[in-house]
Amino acid sequence: MSKITAAITAVGGYVPEYRLTNKELEQMVDTSDEWIKTRTGIEERRILKEPGKASSDMAVPAIQEILKKKNLDPKEIDCIICATVTPDMVFPATANLISAKIGATNAWGFDMSAACSGFLYSLSTGASLIESGRYKKVIVVGVDKMSAIIDYTDRNTCIIFGDGAGAVLLEPSTEGLGVMDSILKSDGAGAEYLHMKAGGSLKPASIETVTAREHYAYQEGKTVFKFAVSGMADVSAAIMERNNLGADDIAWLVPHQANLRIIDATANRMGLPTEKVMINIQRYGNTTAGTIPLCLWDWEKQLKKGDNLVLAAFGGGFTWGAIWIKWAYDGQ
Ligand code: UT7
Repeated sequence: MSKITAAITAVGGYVPEYRLTNKELEQMVDTSDEWIKTRTGIEERRILKEPGKASSDMAVPAIQEILKKKNLDPKEIDCIICATVTPDMVFPATANLISAKIGATNAWGFDMSAACSGFLYSLSTGASLIESGRYKKVIVVGVDKMSAIIDYTDRNTCIIFGDGAGAVLLEPSTEGLGVMDSILKSDGAGAEYLHMKAGGSLKPASIETVTAREHYAYQEGKTVFKFAVSGMADVSAAIMERNNLGADDIAWLVPHQANLRIIDATANRMGLPTEKVMINIQRYGNTTAGTIPLCLWDWEKQLKKGDNLVLAAFGGGFTWGAIWIKWAYDGQ
């Protein structure tokens, strides 16, 4: 019997309508369009403004796009893995809420908390479920409503982040397509540089934590930047080396969109020209777990069966990693 691999067989995405531009941010904090563009590459990000809407409300349309494209009954879905650091609630898992909203009544599921590497961790986990032979249809969705945890008086963080969701369907392949290899890493020593201080069991919400603005993402940008540049480039180079992949073998680098300068450093290290790098940071900013599937969504039509893709990310934890994929279908 030929080996089962986990192929991505459809992609869906969703970004909210509201565009928060650099110009608007100039009115909110001491920054400039010029500074943001040159230091990060970002021009605008999408924000989920409607009251009462949460991460699941972005994940649902992304997954529904897949159901429509594949003419799939939601009851056929075996499992939903939701990568997010902005779950609708602390519990139950957003994956469970999504299942109920789309009618995936036969699915089990769980949330994956790995910040900007959440989609890679989830994709690798979902691939293992498929490879085991026990599951035939696994949805992996990366979604974050970063605007829910961003302090719009802090120019160090508010200029980078945005809201959005991207999803993929994983199905078994016997043609040797799909997830080929992954290298995933973590180092909790990095927590001090990127975290949310309150709201967990260490520091439950109180009047004091709210007054001290501790329910927002805290980031020491310069330090995270330094680790991200080396972490993302090293792991991308490592996955190429381990699989004897040269720059010419790779059709696309699909990088986490945190900062254009981090993306450029990774592409340079891999020897890839800009034309082979998916970059949409100028339009969406950093949507945390959403960035990589949103790139796949934007580029789906250009992808060809057999294309080698390297997905790479670095983020809070620290967490980082790279996944090599052989794309399973021609975009139309
Ligand atoms: O996705 C999860 C992981 N996160 C990341 O990968 C993000 C990594 N970090 C970064 O992308 C960058 O560090 C930032 C974009 C957050 C900041 O860029 P930077 O080039 O590292 O700036 P910096 O913090 O070193 O600050 C340089 C200067 C400082 O001024 P002085 O001290 O040189 O006078 C800052 O005060 O720029 C100033 N500055 C700003 N100026 C205008 C910092 N933020 C801003 C701002 N607008 N928003």
